[in-house]
Amino acid sequence: MNNEVLEIKDYSLSLKIKNKFVRAVDSVDLNINKGEIVALVGESGCGKSLTALSILSLLPKSAKVINGEIKFNNMDLLKLNLSQFNKIRGNDISIIFQEPMSALNPLLKIGKQIQQVLLNHRDDVENPKEKVKDMLRQVGLSEVDIIYNSYPHQLSGGMRQRVIIAMALINSPKLLVADEPTTALDITIQAQILDLLKDMNKKKGTAVLFITHDLALVKNLCDRVYVMYASMIVESSTIENIIKNAKHPYTKALLKSLPSISQRGKKLASIKGVVPKLENRVEKGCPFAPRCEFAKEICMKEKPKLVNFEDSCVRCHFARELNK
Ligand SMILES: Nc1ncnc2c1ncn2[C@@H]1O[C@H](COP(=O)(O)OP(=O)(O)OP(=O)(O)O)[C@@H](O)[C@H]1O
Ligand code: SF4
Ligand SMILES: [Mg+2]
Repeated sequence: MNNEVLEIKDYSLSLKIKNKFVRAVDSVDLNINKGEIVALVGESGCGKSLTALSILSLLPKSAKVINGEIKFNNMDLLKLNLSQFNKIRGNDISIIFQEPMSALNPLLKIGKQIQQVLLNHRDDVENPKEKVKDMLRQVGLSEVDIIYNSYPHQLSGGMRQRVIIAMALINSPKLLVADEPTTALDITIQAQILDLLKDMNKKKGTAVLFITHDLALVKNLCDRVYVMYASMIVESSTIENIIKNAKHPYTKALLKSLPSISQRGKKLASIKGVVPKLENRVEKGCPFAPRCEFAKEICMKEKPKLVNFEDSCVRCHFARELNK
């Protein structure tokens, strides 16, 4: 039996910038099994959101798909038309966007907004109001009658994010794409929202693609991790392997720069340089070469392939030599 909910295969897309097409997502392979929580991690600008938006065909107009497949339950999403997509969005696949306020209509009461999502996909729901209130309870909100009749601005940031999660889960999707869902929240609320996602994943079996720039955040949340750098996946493995036995120089540098993962008392390292702007990215060679302390001549000339090494997938010419 096929266990995969999502399968992204050799997927590339370009964006038109100043009349030139540049690769913003390059040869991405990523899959998520039923009920799994998978993290997509990388610095700002590396292509995480564009990968997420590709799954739901919500790309900007300047984007052009170059290659690859995105399959959901074996259905080729890149071949669907708009009306087919509308049946899937908010129903089989839900997304929580990076800017939480953009997901809520400021002029509509919370209860009505969630009910709309519910009734958008089915008209045979008995007592939809109760179903919405029950969902609000499930995401840990109390006094749900008051919340049901509130406008978004009347709630705190943490409550709004729970409402957004309730809205994303009201139709019991098979896949939830959560793009930096806790970035705008303070640390205590962040932890509560992560617990909630984990709890929902366990209870409902929803598979989750969790996108973040912070590897430390997903340490206790996800099963597997994909590390992205400058449009490419550079390493993927289980969370244990990534934390304890990272193989790619970028993942290692990322780990050293995290306060909660670095050893206490040790000075924090930072990765020199920044992710190059899209229009300045090199087509040849390893994308990390300008910042990599191990770079050799071949790294400037040849793009490394993603290869299996021990229990990980690594895109580095010297993965074996550097991990003896
Ligand atoms: N609509 C757009 N027009 C032009 N450039 C864009 C557009 N959307 C994204 N980009 C560029 O594409 C690259 C990847 O963007 P993306 O939003 O996927 O990054 P990200 O990894 O999600 O970053 P962040 O952590 O900041 O959210 C960035 O360089 C970004 O500036
Ligand atoms: S391929 Fe070369 S530049 Fe890229 S990460 Fe490996 S050693 Fe560094
Ligand atoms: Mg983003």
